[in-house]
Amino acid sequence: MNRKWWHGKVAYQVYPKSFCDSNGDGIGDLKGIISKLDYLKDLGVDIIWLSPCYVSPLADQGYDIADYYNIDPRFGTMADMETLIAEAKKRDIGILMDLVVNHCSDEHEWFKKACADPDGRCGKFFYIEKRRPDGSLPCNWRSCFGGPVWDKLPGHDDLYYLHTFHKKQPDLNWENPELREEVYKMMNWWLDKGLAGFRIDAIINIKKVLPFKDYPADRSDGLSSTASMLKEQTGIGAFLGEMRDRTFKPHNSFSVGEVFDEKPEEIPEFIGDNGYFSSMFDFSETVFGRSPLGSYADSGITPDDYKRCVFQTQWQIGDIGMISNIIENHDESRGVSRYIPEGDVTPTSKKMLAALYFLLKGLPWIYQGQEIGMENISFDSIDEVDDISTIDSYRVARAAGLSEKEALRAVEKSSRDNARTPFQWDGSENAGFTTGKPWLRVNPNYTEINLADQKDDPDSVFNFYRQLTRLRKNPDYQETLTYGRLVPYLEDRHNVMAYLRQSESQSILVMGNFQKEPQILPLPSVPKKILLNNLHDLKLDSENVTLDGYQVIVAEL
Ligand code: GLC
Ligand code: CA
Repeated sequence: MNRKWWHGKVAYQVYPKSFCDSNGDGIGDLKGIISKLDYLKDLGVDIIWLSPCYVSPLADQGYDIADYYNIDPRFGTMADMETLIAEAKKRDIGILMDLVVNHCSDEHEWFKKACADPDGRCGKFFYIEKRRPDGSLPCNWRSCFGGPVWDKLPGHDDLYYLHTFHKKQPDLNWENPELREEVYKMMNWWLDKGLAGFRIDAIINIKKVLPFKDYPADRSDGLSSTASMLKEQTGIGAFLGEMRDRTFKPHNSFSVGEVFDEKPEEIPEFIGDNGYFSSMFDFSETVFGRSPLGSYADSGITPDDYKRCVFQTQWQIGDIGMISNIIENHDESRGVSRYIPEGDVTPTSKKMLAALYFLLKGLPWIYQGQEIGMENISFDSIDEVDDISTIDSYRVARAAGLSEKEALRAVEKSSRDNARTPFQWDGSENAGFTTGKPWLRVNPNYTEINLADQKDDPDSVFNFYRQLTRLRKNPDYQETLTYGRLVPYLEDRHNVMAYLRQSESQSILVMGNFQKEPQILPLPSVPKKILLNNLHDLKLDSENVTLDGYQVIVAEL
């Protein structure tokens, strides 16, 4: 693997709407983020990804962009953005924007022009089709947020446009070189402003299998998820290689792809030396147990499943490149609520999970609030839910025969709102997020889980994350923790997740007891030094260690 400037860094995702509100309108904003840069620096963050803050009707919370060249006034101004980039740079922090180019908003001028003149230049930026001779829609794909992917092109009774996500997110036609030029121009404009790079949204969706055709229906609605089409799709590399050469490469910038369902043989093309992207997220544990029927039928994930998913990815990536490791993001439930068995979520188990994923090979990412152990929220009614995806999942669950209550309980577990509740800064009203009315309900547990209480407590989840970032950057261990291989240890042992990080000169053991009962575990050798322990005690002899419930240790061997 060729060495790159961003290897060994710690990355952090900010969801601007829910991070910090500077002016009391209930919506987080860029000035709010700027005010927290010192906080993020102290946590040990080097790279910040901002979820979209471009001009947008916010139908999908900014993942529907109406103007790529301007900041939505709710988030601030372009001057604020420039200040944020400059202030971050002063602290040696790079800013990534979210690149959402599978689709734009139906309020983007391209789409408005396409409606006015479907045969004109902008009409060709989208997929616009007529019904088939038998009167059916051009294909039977289901949109990610429910219903067919085709909607009537406004102003035209006989024409339909494609949206693989919400109907306010028309898909852009990547087959059209003029559209691609527009995208690269925009990306370079932002990179020239001093961005460190981009997180690339829904990128696998940009290549469609054409001409449009049906796939076998996978639910009673007669539609087929776009997953079947994407599985068959080939040739995306031509677009992604072109994008790399025209934008990332000349800027030596960082790029991380939201890549689902990659084919194992394609990993080197995606993130190898000269890959399309610097890195991509590991979603193997994220998607584990997902049912094609809808989120109400998801199965959840056990500690052993979690371990298997993570190790499988680690094994597949090997030394090809750097994967990006997460336990949550703005589209998922809170990692501690998903991966720790119900009833066992405590500061100790949160720290264990933190150590286990943070020291994997790859780039560690923290999603806002994760560092204080924020948890899922529970809803009293579907009316409290903002997320369009959860609302659709609820509809699907009800149609499958679940009662209102059952449907709500079933879909809230994976609701994207879990991650979108405001950051819990302190125990004051609205968790210190805003002086106004927060756009989304604050998790009522903010009086127990908040940064102010944790900041000066050496045993807090927050300070454990600080220890983790410091360990990763400690010159004595950085080389091994960044480039050292990962070797699973006691792989078949139930409810234990353990591995070695090894370089030529060093071996570091990370070992967690993923259950509440203690376990006696053999050591590979006598530890030279305990680098981290989430509990005060450690029962160790020359051959074994007894780990208490959810205890984790990191040891130099
Ligand atoms: C990605 C985003 C998600 C968004 C979708 C459509 O998955 O992370 O939030 O809804 O793409 O842009
Ligand atoms: Ca605000």
